[in-house]
Amino acid sequence: MAGTAQAQPNIALIKYWGKRDTALNLPATGSLSVTLDSLWTRTRVEFDALLKCDELRLNDMPAPAALARVSACLDSLRALAGVETRARIESYNNFPTAAGLASSASGFAALVVAASAALDLRLNRRILSSLARRGSGSAARSLFGGYVLLTTHRSGSGLDATPRSLLPGKDWPLEMVIAVTSRSAKPVSSRAGMEISRRTSPFYNEWVANSDADLAIAQAAVLAHDFAALAAVSEHNCLKMHAVMMSSRPALMYWNAATLECMHRIRDLRERDGVRTFFTIDAGPQVKAVCVSEDAERVAKALADVPGVATILRSRLGEGARLLRESEREVA
Ligand code: DP6
Repeated sequence: MAGTAQAQPNIALIKYWGKRDTALNLPATGSLSVTLDSLWTRTRVEFDALLKCDELRLNDMPAPAALARVSACLDSLRALAGVETRARIESYNNFPTAAGLASSASGFAALVVAASAALDLRLNRRILSSLARRGSGSAARSLFGGYVLLTTHRSGSGLDATPRSLLPGKDWPLEMVIAVTSRSAKPVSSRAGMEISRRTSPFYNEWVANSDADLAIAQAAVLAHDFAALAAVSEHNCLKMHAVMMSSRPALMYWNAATLECMHRIRDLRERDGVRTFFTIDAGPQVKAVCVSEDAERVAKALADVPGVATILRSRLGEGARLLRESEREVA
């Protein structure tokens, strides 16, 4: 009754910000992301009849604050397996947790893959993805590799969101350079923040209404390997999301001075020096620069020079969540 899985975070280029249904955790907007390679979460789940409640350790520390969401996600899997057995969950991230680096995406994707194997449930990726989505909307995308589309629609029987792989990463091997400008956990979680935006931002309805148009442009740009078009729509979509965040009450300000300086550097590199790069930023102060491979080194050097940048992380595009074999099962 044990399984271990690895999942990589994904970074949305067209963002999910807002929910259509909080109980089912259904996104109000579709999204398009890239799954990373060198950042990962490894999670071991062991069901044990002697446990009275689920136990969670994150990076070798008890993690009571995250337990309720993890248990709720495991409850869906327990219901499918027809068991009530509690589990011991050990999860390890090789990158900062809850700092706008999508640790909840890789975390819930790894959790459902490990738990479903431990319960011997044979579930396909789409079902695993919808179970991961209940834990965290962005996690639905980490079940898939490369370029991933999560569309949202009303299906016949109710509300649903459908994930699919748009293009394997190797077909258009862009790179991600991440400027870490703070290692602290974010002050307002994505979950709380998007609800504040839905209730209070005067721009929220427009944001939702315009999302499908951005998604269509981005999807076409990915399929055509059109970097300039993807750059334009991704930066636009990211800035629109941050405009919604900043126009919420209380205002959600996820950027710091280094975040803003990195954005200017990236725009200068592109517009002045012809470097093929663009930025995207999530609910945190880290700046993710998407680059054509040949330009990644130059972008990494430029961002490392920005005052306030603590570290540069780099990643190619990677695969979806997977079970780890016995030989790979070192959690740390
Ligand atoms: C800004 O998936 O973390 O990163 O579903 O409430 O867990 P919950 O939210 P989460 O939100 C991600 C928001 C984002 C944009 C994105 O990844 O699409």
